[in-house]
Amino acid sequence: MKKIIAINASPRINWNTSQLVKQVAQGAEAQGAHVKIIDLYKLEKFTGCISCFGCKTKEHLGVCVCKDGLYSVLQDISKADGLVIGTPNYLGDISAGCRALYERLIFQSLTYKKELQSYNKNKIPVLFIMTSNASKEFYPAIGYDNMLEDYRQSLNTFVGPTKVFVADDTLQVNDYDKYNWTMFDSQSKILRNKTVFPEQLKQAFELGKQMVKNPWQE
Ligand SMILES: Cc1cc2nc3c(=O)[nH]c(=O)nc-3n(C[C@H](O)[C@H](O)[C@H](O)COP(=O)(O)O)c2cc1C
Repeated sequence: MKKIIAINASPRINWNTSQLVKQVAQGAEAQGAHVKIIDLYKLEKFTGCISCFGCKTKEHLGVCVCKDGLYSVLQDISKADGLVIGTPNYLGDISAGCRALYERLIFQSLTYKKELQSYNKNKIPVLFIMTSNASKEFYPAIGYDNMLEDYRQSLNTFVGPTKVFVADDTLQVNDYDKYNWTMFDSQSKILRNKTVFPEQLKQAFELGKQMVKNPWQE
């Protein structure tokens, strides 16, 4: 049975990112996989890479040795057949929690060798999900396409073939009237959440199925 690790890197449970990650998980389960969902912000305290270089020593080559909340997550990923990471866009980038995971995940496999880039021999398909307030049409101009492509490429190199899925123009709060956010038209945000977001959830479900049945290649 295939094992999939699905990580919600939003602090909000059951909001946009979390729902998408759950749909991917359900799609994977529909194909017979066992899925472990991890809410990153519920873990014990963790940090990004602390530059201890334990993962570069002979005894622990390619394995992060920092024993905090992320330790078991990295262990789980190393034994998995697929990885899902969902993150909200925070200030034009991934969430801080996601960045900590990313640093640890990538750096442990980085060899600093000319002849071999990555220690990781267990390449697995990765689905990298981003949700954002911004609409996709602005992505090229505001640098989000480039930012996502950078993440895709390094995940591709150090973890495995990576697909990016974006759910844009999300509903950020239930009650826009509580705030005076003149940038947004609350009615169209609510309508989009009722009409477009369910379609994005369906696409996420299909990607979960694909990850197990017919994983994408590099
Ligand atoms: C701290 C913070 C920073 C954000 N920065 C951006 C941003 O730079 N660009 C953007 O499009 N959305 C931004 N957003 C909006 C979120 O990316 C968006 O609402 C996302 O769907 C939230 O995911 P969630 O519902 O799973 O928590 C920000 C939200 C927060 C809380």
